[in-house]
Amino acid sequence: MRQADPTETKKFGKAACVKSVLVFLANYLILLLFLLLFLWMGTLEQEETLKEYILNNYNMVIYLLSSIFLLFLTIYFYYIFEDRSLLATVKNIWLIFFLLDFCILVCYFFGYFFNIYSRPVALLALLVLMLLGRRDAIFLNIIFALMLFSIDRFSNFSSLAEMDQYQAAIDCSPLLTFSAGMVAIFVGSKVKTRLRSFLTGFAVCIPMLVMIACLEYNRGVGTVYLLLYGVEAGVLSAVLFMAFLPVFEVCFNCITDYRLRELTDHDAPLMRELKEKAIGTFNHSIVVAHLAEACAIALGEDTALARAAAYYHDVGKLRQPEYFTENQTGYNPHSELSPELSVDIIRSHAKDGYELILGRRLPKILADVAVQHHGTMPIKYFYARALKMSDGALNIEDFSYSGPKPQTKIAAIIMVADASEAISRTISDRSPEKVEDAVREIIEERMDLDQFDECDLTMRDLTTIKETIVSCLTGVYHHRVLYPKLKLKRKEEEAKNDA
Ligand SMILES: [Fe+2]
Ligand SMILES: [Fe+2]
Repeated sequence: MRQADPTETKKFGKAACVKSVLVFLANYLILLLFLLLFLWMGTLEQEETLKEYILNNYNMVIYLLSSIFLLFLTIYFYYIFEDRSLLATVKNIWLIFFLLDFCILVCYFFGYFFNIYSRPVALLALLVLMLLGRRDAIFLNIIFALMLFSIDRFSNFSSLAEMDQYQAAIDCSPLLTFSAGMVAIFVGSKVKTRLRSFLTGFAVCIPMLVMIACLEYNRGVGTVYLLLYGVEAGVLSAVLFMAFLPVFEVCFNCITDYRLRELTDHDAPLMRELKEKAIGTFNHSIVVAHLAEACAIALGEDTALARAAAYYHDVGKLRQPEYFTENQTGYNPHSELSPELSVDIIRSHAKDGYELILGRRLPKILADVAVQHHGTMPIKYFYARALKMSDGALNIEDFSYSGPKPQTKIAAIIMVADASEAISRTISDRSPEKVEDAVREIIEERMDLDQFDECDLTMRDLTTIKETIVSCLTGVYHHRVLYPKLKLKRKEEEAKNDA
């Protein structure tokens, strides 16, 4: 599982610290409003106002508010020590509290209208797992379990929803929520398809059923009903997860395997445009994706992200597709332009891609790879042409991409895969030795020009990338025996001719 967006990590300075504290306080106030709503609803069946309830039960109200406040502090200090970059991005803090508030409301809705055991307590774990990652899911699942327990135990809502008939469930609710959430996290981590997401719901049922059977074994037929509520809670967690995940993905522009898979569908809007307007670039991107995915597997990187980044790395070419070799069918418009003008058009595709991807509200990490995939490499073809036309006093930076250099391993993989795919089309002898020479040259040239200085790629990683790309490219352009030139006729024609 991945972080919300690895490229959005900012420095956690004083300003970010103050901002994060303010967002935490704002969210605490929002949750207090929900709690007041619960308390008010709890007073509806008793003949007292909210004010009277608070005055008569001020110790319970203080327990409730202070326990929730302590849980907020725990979240804050957990991220201060474990992942400050998350606190530096306000969007991520809102995402965490939106998920917590949403899941609390959903759980009490089902607890109120159905039964305490029918609450989809694994919903938060599944959503956080997909949107933020496994570590956050484990931590926030514990916080969620304790929040539900505090509200059940210290508010009067449980009397309204007749949940107080199930005192054992309230007492053991942290264990119930925690175990259901943990099963969801461990089973859900390997889930890649919607059917499996749904089946995760049934896995969540197991700890629910065990707990219900242990806590309510003495209710006779009632126990069977409660067990059915347990099944409902597991299935409901999975169904609500599938229903609301796309909403959170779009609202918070998060990247998940599901979203990346949708984006690499050939019918995704930008992919369809690329297929219609720049079929050469589209085909090139597919081969780059194949190489990048293989490299990501070899390096243990995120394969779905590598694939999507490769699909979108050259979308900037959509602005002027006819100026790029792979889309030309004979006529080359650069023959009528000066090398300086040609370089401007060629290098702008990296920045155009960045703007296009962000303009379509696609994940920022894809835009970052698009703008970084050529780093600050010179555009040698036009530099050589300009040298021929001048007296030799040229600044190579005027003929280079404007960068930035790759900032992540995925961006570096795309850089090498992109150049390797392009060069493999130009070499006539595609034997493994020649392909290896070409890929080695690409990597060495980029190392000489410090293109990998800003990402944490090691020498071993580069060797792995080289070996993987060579093996893939020799597989793509493998040798075939020549087919014999035989003209085959239909049997009836042969019979006619013989007659
Ligand atoms: Fe490119
Ligand atoms: Fe490319």
